[in-house]
Amino acid sequence: MRFIADPGGEVGGEIRVPGDKSISHRAAMLGAVAEGTTEIHGFLEGADCLATLNALAAMGVSAGRPAAGVLRVHGKGLRGLEAPPAALDLGNSGTSMRLLAGLLSGQGFDTILIGDASLMARPMERVAAPLRRMGADVRTNGGRPPVAIRGGRRLVGVSHRLDVPSAQVKSALLLAGLQAEGRTSVVEPAATRDHTERMLEAFGVAVERSADEVAVTGGARLHAARIEVPGDFSSAAFFIVAALIAGRGPLVLLDVGVNPTRTALIDILRLMGADIRLQARAMLAGEPRADIEVYPSRLQGVVVPEALVPAAIDELPVLFAAAAVAAGETVVTGAGELRVKESDRLAAMAGGLAALGIAVEAGPDGLRIQGGEVGGGCLASQGDHRVAMAFAVLGARARAPITIEDVQNVATSFPGFADLARAAGLRLAEVS
Ligand code: S3P
Repeated sequence: MRFIADPGGEVGGEIRVPGDKSISHRAAMLGAVAEGTTEIHGFLEGADCLATLNALAAMGVSAGRPAAGVLRVHGKGLRGLEAPPAALDLGNSGTSMRLLAGLLSGQGFDTILIGDASLMARPMERVAAPLRRMGADVRTNGGRPPVAIRGGRRLVGVSHRLDVPSAQVKSALLLAGLQAEGRTSVVEPAATRDHTERMLEAFGVAVERSADEVAVTGGARLHAARIEVPGDFSSAAFFIVAALIAGRGPLVLLDVGVNPTRTALIDILRLMGADIRLQARAMLAGEPRADIEVYPSRLQGVVVPEALVPAAIDELPVLFAAAAVAAGETVVTGAGELRVKESDRLAAMAGGLAALGIAVEAGPDGLRIQGGEVGGGCLASQGDHRVAMAFAVLGARARAPITIEDVQNVATSFPGFADLARAAGLRLAEVS
């Protein structure tokens, strides 16, 4: 499957993006180990979250869809999961693999976690090593999957200080901590998305939080909850940039999650001159939400403050697309984590931008981009959903069509992206 992004699209109107991926994964997992039936409204039916649901189903968790957009997960309690008949295949989904590694390290049975070629190449010691410190038996293959977990281990709460800011690792340790003796705490070098903490509270678990530390105490029980999943800010990001660089008038993104650990892209774009306005909605299940209004804006290159990078990590590919059409130079550093995402996103974006005629320099942990005239061409997405969507947006401002190869993984996070892009005004074709 490929995208052909034609120049000249003009974006505006009112759209609603699909549910948040991070929150959907967590709702399914916590619902599975809660007592009672958890009802999830707006669950993201993308391939990554379905990988989580399939893995839970293989461990005896049943889920039903009583109405469109509603998922009911029948919880089995923290000790009710069953040994799966085979290795759990998590596809492209790093969140599934890392969070489940934590959840399963305290169970009474063995599991093996595998995935697609991209996931099998991603680093897993960052989660395995701290889990071993708690007494878990978690093995990797030279640091990569398969992740092999021996069950029946007694876990003990430990204080962890993470080397890299990672919500996936933090969440894995908290999920193991629920099954450990005593207190498990995590200190991160920078704040990362805190959906696990907020959702544990919604399931009735006490979470201790201070400025840079989060902790749980083992033995708590989870009580089924009703979870309303907001629109995914990371999906909205593609349309925020599209409306800034190719807007015909305001674009309103309805009911998007605006948890402050996720929205640094807005701060960065405002530094670049963007006119973005938030109309707050009611907070649900501990997560703030808002309608986001975006007005066409003239963007200016900036040196992005490193402190904003962790809360914009998944949005940097589309920020690089914005930088390509901004006046002057944009510099991003402190984003070395992009090298170990679904693809090496620094290499994929630098390679694609250079192929379109943009002056770009890649460093070990960032990019330096000189805004300019964007040409057309044929690009590889490296099988990475966010790289594919970033270039699809940039097509609106190119001089000739941009073809993006290998875009089927867009469905991991954003099913229906091409249809919604057309509805918003982009000229995007999906060709198989
Ligand atoms: C996620 C955490 C981030 C993010 C990923 C989703 C999560 O990964 O990039 O898309 O849901 O916890 P890291 O934990 O590797 O930073």
